[in-house]
Amino acid sequence: MTTQTWDTQRYQTQHDFVWEYGAALVDLLAPQPGEHILDLGCGPGQLTQALAQAGALVEGIDADPAMIAQAQQNYPELTFRTADARNFEVASPLDAVFSNAVLHWVSVPEAVVQSVGRALKPGGRFVAEFGGKGNVQTIVAAVEACLHRPNFWYFPSVAEYASLLEANGFEVTFAALIDRPTPLKAGEQGLANWLRMFGDRFFANLSEAETISVIRQVEDRVRSRLYRDNDQNSGWIADYRRLRIVTTKLGDA
Ligand code: BEZ
Repeated sequence: MTTQTWDTQRYQTQHDFVWEYGAALVDLLAPQPGEHILDLGCGPGQLTQALAQAGALVEGIDADPAMIAQAQQNYPELTFRTADARNFEVASPLDAVFSNAVLHWVSVPEAVVQSVGRALKPGGRFVAEFGGKGNVQTIVAAVEACLHRPNFWYFPSVAEYASLLEANGFEVTFAALIDRPTPLKAGEQGLANWLRMFGDRFFANLSEAETISVIRQVEDRVRSRLYRDNDQNSGWIADYRRLRIVTTKLGDA
């Protein structure tokens, strides 16, 4: 869920690890047949489909109409709509809200947590994973050093996010910060592709030549830490760190 528009083809072909890793979060949610579940920030819909395959009655929402169009094209039998994580509404209270690799894009976390709380039944689950404190820190530090532009993502600590949830009527039953080094596709091109896909706001107002120059400088700065040079399997490994949470909305079910 972002306020930006994505190149959905590039997203699907170069960054499919996003939903491949997300399968573990589906397992953590343990969707049950007949449960009403919202996939918050569904992107092109692969995990919405995984929830539906478990028998849940699922709807996917995303802020980007291009992502919703892609999801609908990928899974015409499922329900998707464009909506914003900060102020979405649902027709009737849900059993669960699920969200993978999205909430670091939303800069008003209180509004998200409150929208989720309004959408859930008492006793309903909110299970989410996104970038936590220290996520892609090596890359962020290098970009900041080259460009002097601050990071625009929201990467909270366990304590910060758990406190926010508790202040808004949730019980946090699991919260963890998990290092997950993430190999990027396309060998030498992998970090440049990642920066262009996800970090394009850093490069706003730069010419193509300037953007290329900054990307090369970033690569030089981080290569010793993030590039694996190995005959069989060379490439960039991004220093992802996930914040994973399992919560329940308080109140009498
Ligand atoms: C993440 O999933 O943690 C992430 C992806 C792109 C940019 C920043 C963070």
